[in-house]
Amino acid sequence: MKLQGRTAIVTGAGRGIGREVALLLAEEGAHVWAVDPGVGRGGEETEDRPADEVVAEIRDRGGKAEACYDTVSDFDKMGELVNGIVRDHGKIDIVVNTAGVLRERMIWNMTEDEFDMVINVHLKGHWNLCHHAVRHMRKANYGRIVNFASDAFKGSVGQCNYAAAKGGIISLTRSIAKETQRNDITCNVICPAADTRMTLTEAVKANRQRKYEAGLMTKEQYERTMIFRGPEHIAPMVAYLTTPESWAISGQNFHIEMGKIHTYYYGEEQRGLVHGADGMFTLDELMSAVPNSLMNGLEPIVPKTDPALAGSEDAKAKSA
Ligand SMILES: NC(=O)c1ccc[n+]([C@@H]2O[C@H](COP(=O)([O-])OP(=O)(O)OC[C@H]3O[C@@H](n4cnc5c(N)ncnc54)[C@H](O)[C@@H]3O)[C@@H](O)[C@H]2O)c1
Repeated sequence: MKLQGRTAIVTGAGRGIGREVALLLAEEGAHVWAVDPGVGRGGEETEDRPADEVVAEIRDRGGKAEACYDTVSDFDKMGELVNGIVRDHGKIDIVVNTAGVLRERMIWNMTEDEFDMVINVHLKGHWNLCHHAVRHMRKANYGRIVNFASDAFKGSVGQCNYAAAKGGIISLTRSIAKETQRNDITCNVICPAADTRMTLTEAVKANRQRKYEAGLMTKEQYERTMIFRGPEHIAPMVAYLTTPESWAISGQNFHIEMGKIHTYYYGEEQRGLVHGADGMFTLDELMSAVPNSLMNGLEPIVPKTDPALAGSEDAKAKSA
């Protein structure tokens, strides 16, 4: 067992990826605190207590686990949880931040509540746990943190709140990694892809079916989408990043899905304009240098419509 004697918090541990991570860490000997109020996909309150179910499963298998029904967005409650574990068990070794919700709308329809809610659970929730845990981890000179972002960090239609939170989590992770560089503390982030109640909705299934029937997908492609990519495929790499042996890996961003793991790097300089004289670009210089040099031949983030056509029926048809 690779995590014998370790204490671990797993948020969102009641369902999906968090549940699989909690089960695997416990199987490897960690004492797991499963944080999950059992909310709906959009954060709505429910009567469900999935944290109890995962805790019961761990105990049935001979492992150690406790349930916590508080929300990760509550700074004080997360402080009480972390401080309580350190008081009663001497340390907090591992934090895995898997809790998550979605409130999807285009930016022009999104309400302030929908934006705040998603930022609070994802970005603030991550910060809460990291803040409280790192204070103890620094004193103990040991800690393993695994955060959860998403490929949505690249920008995602109908999910600007979620994408912004996930991009923030990547920057948060890299900052914590730099701040804890001198300690045996690591902080990494995962962009997973797995079929869970968050991702495999009836609307997603219907959309695939529609695309197939409209000839936008081959039979082979459609059948590939039907293969269930379970959340259990995410857990082993997360568990690896919680072991002492992964000490040299920090600040990294990994995409994980069934059968595939790859790294991401971002922040590298891509193209440049240099002003040799006084360092001051004039607007006139930029009117020419930006399209003809800086952006020339660069792959666009989004292919833009000619402004002469923008908003026309033709443009709408192209972007539909
Ligand atoms: N499944 C994927 O393909 C995928 C893709 C990209 C990112 N992610 C991210 O991975 C993480 C796990 O996603 P999942 O697919 O397992 O989702 P899921 O919906 O299956 O599980 C999320 C769990 O988090 C819990 N939760 C929600 N709000 C909480 C809160 N405030 N405090 C504590 N727990 C809370 C829910 O009750 C639920 O049990 C999320 O951060 C998600 O954004 C998942």
